[in-house]
Amino acid sequence: MAVHGSPWGGVEVVAHRGASADEPEHTLAAYRHAVRLGADAVECDVRMTRDGELVCVHDRRVDRTSTGRGVISALDLAELERFDFGRAAAASRRRRIRHVAEESDEEPSVEDPGRLLTLERLLEYVTSTPSGVRLAIETKHPTRHSIRVESALVAALRRFGLLGGDRPVEWAGRPAVRVMSFSPAALRRVRALARGVPTVQLVGPMTPWTRFTGLPPANTAVGPSVGLLRRVPSYVGAAHRAGAEVHVWTVNRPQDVEFVLSLGVDAVITDHPGTLLARLGRG
Ligand code: G3P
Ligand code: CA
Repeated sequence: MAVHGSPWGGVEVVAHRGASADEPEHTLAAYRHAVRLGADAVECDVRMTRDGELVCVHDRRVDRTSTGRGVISALDLAELERFDFGRAAAASRRRRIRHVAEESDEEPSVEDPGRLLTLERLLEYVTSTPSGVRLAIETKHPTRHSIRVESALVAALRRFGLLGGDRPVEWAGRPAVRVMSFSPAALRRVRALARGVPTVQLVGPMTPWTRFTGLPPANTAVGPSVGLLRRVPSYVGAAHRAGAEVHVWTVNRPQDVEFVLSLGVDAVITDHPGTLLARLGRG
């Protein structure tokens, strides 16, 4: 099946939580693997700790992805750093789930010390890669800390030279960074802090499709789920006509990959960037 061209001339491959099908999500190992595979961009969820640090974790609690327990916004960074977010955590979760006492044969790799990834460490890594992998950062629980999350995020992007004034620097003709959220208010706050930052309004599978929340000129792109595009394939054409790119998530099944490519989306967010790159002839 042909891959349709996007307005900027290619389909961007975005590694969801890093190459999270191969390495524990949101670990440096997952991001390094995504870069090694040749992903165009990496996706990362950020949350704020009690003491105001931005950390790369998807859930409100750490229980699923670490050896610890608790709510991130109720814990300090130092407390969170005691937990293991790597393979040891994954193995221990499997043991808990299966009620099996035996040890896992999966040893943590050298690259996978299981350390909590802070946004700071991710930015350090990304800005040191010669390939210039782009960043798609999603703010989570945007109302709890109100503008503190967005202020800390924009300040960090400035500190790492990813924003030149209000606009992101460009790598290979595309902005080096964009910010995504399900919350229109959170994206408004980002744009108020740095007017030129591209923002992506995420749209869930059950969102009424007529609610094109935050289409341009406010947002650069909309981010529908693959489920939403299955229900309303015309969403892509409508978004393009309105001047917005379409960044679809989270596309893992081969039939979904073919489906979204046939629609001409601009970016595909996937746990399997290697498979998608191979499908695009870039593997
Ligand atoms: O990239 C958007 C996608 O990550 C949103 O869903 O739950 O994986 O953060 P979630
Ligand atoms: Ca996300």
